[in-house]
Amino acid sequence: MDARLSGLSGDDDLSALVSEAARAANAHNTQPWSVDRQGDELVLRRDRARTLGASDPRGRDTMLSFGAFVESLLVCAASAGVGLGFEASTGGDAETDEVGRFSRHPEGYQTRFSSADVRGRRVWRGRWRDGGPGPDLLQEAAVETERMGFRLVSMPTRDARPILVRANRWFFGEQATVAELDQWTRLSPRHPRYDEDGLNDAMLVLSKVERVGLRTLIGPRVFRALRGLGLPGLLARMSASATQGSGTVLGVVGPAGAQQELAAGRLLTRLWLGFQRHGLYVHPQSAPLDCPETRAMLDERWQVAPDEQLVAWFRVGIPASDPTARVASPRRSGG
Ligand SMILES: Cc1cc2nc3c(=O)[nH]c(=O)nc-3n(C[C@H](O)[C@H](O)[C@H](O)COP(=O)(O)O)c2cc1C
Repeated sequence: MDARLSGLSGDDDLSALVSEAARAANAHNTQPWSVDRQGDELVLRRDRARTLGASDPRGRDTMLSFGAFVESLLVCAASAGVGLGFEASTGGDAETDEVGRFSRHPEGYQTRFSSADVRGRRVWRGRWRDGGPGPDLLQEAAVETERMGFRLVSMPTRDARPILVRANRWFFGEQATVAELDQWTRLSPRHPRYDEDGLNDAMLVLSKVERVGLRTLIGPRVFRALRGLGLPGLLARMSASATQGSGTVLGVVGPAGAQQELAAGRLLTRLWLGFQRHGLYVHPQSAPLDCPETRAMLDERWQVAPDEQLVAWFRVGIPASDPTARVASPRRSGG
């Protein structure tokens, strides 16, 4: 079902809020959610046709994406003066795929962010200037993270780069993850869903030559033919821009479990919006968390306990050019 709120008259405002909130960060830009109205409530559900498989082996990124959507909708509602609260569904209803419910809340959501922040947020995949968040900003982020029961960890980009290259080599060495990337990339404006979802050439900051090259390389025939000839290594190095130059990579560690991932998605959204207010952008990377080898390295470095998990890993820094000059990533209409 579409993310549009259908039904009762007077729903237009809520429908507009849902569309605004759909600007939330989400893995591969699949926008894995749907929202429908039930009585006075808005029900958030998983859209199975839009849920990643091989690229999200633990389902973590999907839950984080739902969390990002929840936080974004609460911020947009508060900004519009609409009092909304959210309650997560416990137990994960497999039949209805319900994630949680939004309902009217007399006091509304308390937040320092606005719908302008949600609209302006974007991931940065271009070149970076050297430097990162200062100690005060990092401290502020650490306090916010701890308030939610998580902890913020960091490493310099020089340590992060070999980890990312190794993780990407794993990612590009797996036929299933590359096939899913192929499914969700739109490397030509002629792609029928270029303006709706997925990862397009503009978002990936690819030149014309690069986009044609990548499209060819990850297509099933060429990929199969070149897989054994060093193609995964080449793609891994090409995709390590998040660790370019001298800067900071942050991680978020917290209790394990799907509900905690939902909470972490909300937290990440607040952290990323907070950084962005200071001109700092982020580039999240999932492969270091999913590649068993790099995951073990990170768990050891950051002393992740058996009942904890590393939920996110992202570069935070200063873009070398103005991110707002680039076109925003696409969203399907109606949310
Ligand atoms: C949980 C999560 C995981 C992500 N993982 C990656 C990643 O591994 N590599 C990447 O380039 N972007 C990653 N992203 C960024 C998304 O691709 C991005 O949010 C989406 O394409 C929409 O673009 P926008 O955030 O600029 O609007 C991730 C985002 C989320 C929320």
